[in-house]
Amino acid sequence: MWPLKSNYDYPRNQWYVAGWSHELNNEMPVERWFLGEPVALYRDKAGKAIALEGRCPHRNYPLAKSIIRGDALECGYHGFTFGPDGRCVRIPSQDVIPAACRVKAYPLVEKWQWLWIWMGDPEKADEALIPDHDEMRLTSPGWVAVPALDRVLNCRPQLLHENLTDISHLAFLHAGTIGTEAIAATKVEVSQNERFLRGSRFIPDETLTGFLSEVLGYEGPVERTVLIDFYAPSVHVALESFRKPGGEVIGEFRVHHAVTPAAPDRTNYFFAWSRSFAVEDQSLTDTMNTVFAGAIQQDVDATQDIEAMVRQMPEPKELLVRADEHSIRARRWIEEMIEAEQA
Ligand code: FES
Ligand SMILES: [Fe+2]
Repeated sequence: MWPLKSNYDYPRNQWYVAGWSHELNNEMPVERWFLGEPVALYRDKAGKAIALEGRCPHRNYPLAKSIIRGDALECGYHGFTFGPDGRCVRIPSQDVIPAACRVKAYPLVEKWQWLWIWMGDPEKADEALIPDHDEMRLTSPGWVAVPALDRVLNCRPQLLHENLTDISHLAFLHAGTIGTEAIAATKVEVSQNERFLRGSRFIPDETLTGFLSEVLGYEGPVERTVLIDFYAPSVHVALESFRKPGGEVIGEFRVHHAVTPAAPDRTNYFFAWSRSFAVEDQSLTDTMNTVFAGAIQQDVDATQDIEAMVRQMPEPKELLVRADEHSIRARRWIEEMIEAEQA
């Protein structure tokens, strides 16, 4: 689907964020869609997080509308019961259980507060491929990390990726809160290592005002560094670092955006952030949550508006400029992952 060249809309043999640890329990399953498939998420009696295919093979009832019986899910329609490995263990109307009566069980890993799911070939699900949570500053000593919010967007995943890799939009879409004109005016340098694709901006002389000044408890000129690291195909981590002219760090925070395709035209968005200063200050956490939630809503509105627009275009097109380099290289990286799977 445009703007990807491929009609195979996402790489499958990858880890994606599926939700938050605190959402799952042994009482009520949670339903989400990932990569075009319904998934039922819950915990077994021992507290282990489980992800099963969310459609009952009997009559296609949503398996998330099940009753949890011990470690298993009992379908809320006719009572077929599936263990955490996906095998059917009970059909109330007969003793024989056909071999075909089973659902997929997906690898699911908890790291920090995030649940990571692998929708592709389970044989290939190597936990070492999950982005390093210390490097992302979600689990680093001296940082407070906040699981902030999640949304389901009516837009293709690529539109959200390209919102997150082109932060020149901060100056306009988020003017007055997290955005300043200097961000759009500063050239982005793009670099790649084996873990992430980085877009860097260095602003040598910005004057803090408004939200940023309030958060950092500092007024006056700063050196600002903004890094956006894309851990393809699922997570974007932005680092905002502010120094007094000449060196001393005033404060740093990071924002973490997990983009998980729900379907070709629907996107799960999980947002967290972390900071390394005033880590005990709950009222600062509340302020930052409020401002970030407002900014996220602006991004949600923008990407959904663009989706509505391009759906009306028989042949969508775009006009790219220098600042789009990071987005285009991120797009290529996803396309390469898709091509490698198809080969
Ligand atoms: S649809 Fe699930 S048991 Fe019939
Ligand atoms: Fe934004």
